Amino acid sequence: MKVAARAHVPPFAVMEILAAANARRAAGEHVLNLCAGEPSTGASDVVRQRAIDLLTAGDLGYTESLGAPGLRAAIATHYRGTHGVDVDPARVAVTTGSSGGFMLAFLAAFDVGDRVALARPGYPAYANILTALGCEVVDLPCGPEQRYQPTVAQLEALDRPVDGLVVASPANPTGTMIAPDELAALAAWCGEHGVRLVSDEIYHGITYPDASGETPATATAARYLRTGAVVVNSFSKYWAMTGWRLGWLVLPDDLVAPVDALAGNVALCPPALAQHAGVAAFSDAGMAAARANVERYAESRRLLLDRVPDLGWDPVAPADGAFYLYGNVASTSLDAVTYCARLLDEAGVALTPGTDFDPVGGRDWVRLSFASSPAVVAEAADRIVAWQGTL
Ligand SMILES: Cc1ncc(COP(=O)(O)O)c(C=O)c1O
Repeated sequence: MKVAARAHVPPFAVMEILAAANARRAAGEHVLNLCAGEPSTGASDVVRQRAIDLLTAGDLGYTESLGAPGLRAAIATHYRGTHGVDVDPARVAVTTGSSGGFMLAFLAAFDVGDRVALARPGYPAYANILTALGCEVVDLPCGPEQRYQPTVAQLEALDRPVDGLVVASPANPTGTMIAPDELAALAAWCGEHGVRLVSDEIYHGITYPDASGETPATATAARYLRTGAVVVNSFSKYWAMTGWRLGWLVLPDDLVAPVDALAGNVALCPPALAQHAGVAAFSDAGMAAARANVERYAESRRLLLDRVPDLGWDPVAPADGAFYLYGNVASTSLDAVTYCARLLDEAGVALTPGTDFDPVGGRDWVRLSFASSPAVVAEAADRIVAWQGTL
C-alpha cells in the first residue's frame, strides 16, 4: 500500500539515544541522561494540586478550540507583566504544546511550495514539519560570527524571495539570543517584504547573566503582530510541563480565524485538564517554582562552563539562554554520531549528536542538556573528561 512521500521525514536521533539510554538504565546501569531537552523537576506543586482538584471535581469537557477563556486571558496578562506589551486575549490560541502550535501556524500561513527560511543549526522539527506540508526549506547557515542567528543581511542576499522566516531565541541547540534591536530589524524587514515571521519563544525566561553580570534582554515578537509576526510559546520548558502538552500562539489579526477553524478540525481543543491547571502556572507560587528551576540551570551552566577547558570542546556556543551546551568535538577525531554512541556505551553518558540540528556541519558537534541537577551535570562532565582521555 502507498505511504505518502510527505511522511518520509527523518526521525530525531535523540529519540534513539534516549531509548538506548533507557534500556541501559532498565538493565541496572547508572546512565546519565543529558540528551533530552527536558527539565527533571516536572510541574510545580501548585499546578499539580490544581490538576488533582480538577480531576476530583470531574468536569473536563471540551473547551473552545482556541482554548479556555481563563487561560487565554492569563497568557495575555503575562505579556504585560514580562514584556510591557498589551496582548488582546482574542489573539491567543492555546495549542497542544508548541509543536501543535507550529503545525497550526504553518498550516495557516504557508501553502504547498512556499519557501520558508530557517537558521542552521536549529530545532529539527521546523524543517521536518514544513517539508511534510510541502513547503521548501531555505537553509540559512549561521555560524559563531553571527551568534548562530539569522540576520537581515542574509535575507537580503537570498537569490529568490521567501514567504516565511522561523527564528528561535533563545535557540535550541545553541542557546544564543536575538537582541531586541535585531528582532525589530528582522520583523520590519519581514513586514516590508511580505514574509511571515514565526518566532519560537519557548525558552523565554531561561536566560543567564553574561560575564559582566548582565542578563541579556529578551524580546518578544508579540510587539510586531501588526507586521504579521506569529509568536509560538509553551509551558514545556520554563514551567517544566513537557508531558502536559500545552503551548500557545499569539496571532496577527489575519491568522486568528484560520487558526480557529484549523484547530477545531485538527484536535477540537487542547487537553482540558492541562489548560485549566495551567492557569496556576502564572500564580505567584507557579512563577516562583519556575524561577527556582532557572537558578538551578544557572548553577549547572556555571559549573559546566568552568569545565570547558578540560572538555576541550572548541568552540562552544555562548549558551545565553535555554539549557544546552553546544560544543565542537572535532579535536577528538570522532564524528558526533560515533562520539555519542561510544560515550553512552563506554561511559554511560547520553548526549545528542549535532547532526540532529545541522545535517551539514553537525557531525563535529554535540549538544549537552544541563536541565537536570547540578550534581548529575558535574558527574557527567567528570565522566566525559575521563572517557575522552582514553581515546
Ligand atoms: C526550540 C524548540 N521549540 C519547540 C519545542 C517543542 O516543545 P513542546 O511541543 O513541548 O512545546 C522544543 C522542544 O524541545 C524546542 O526545543
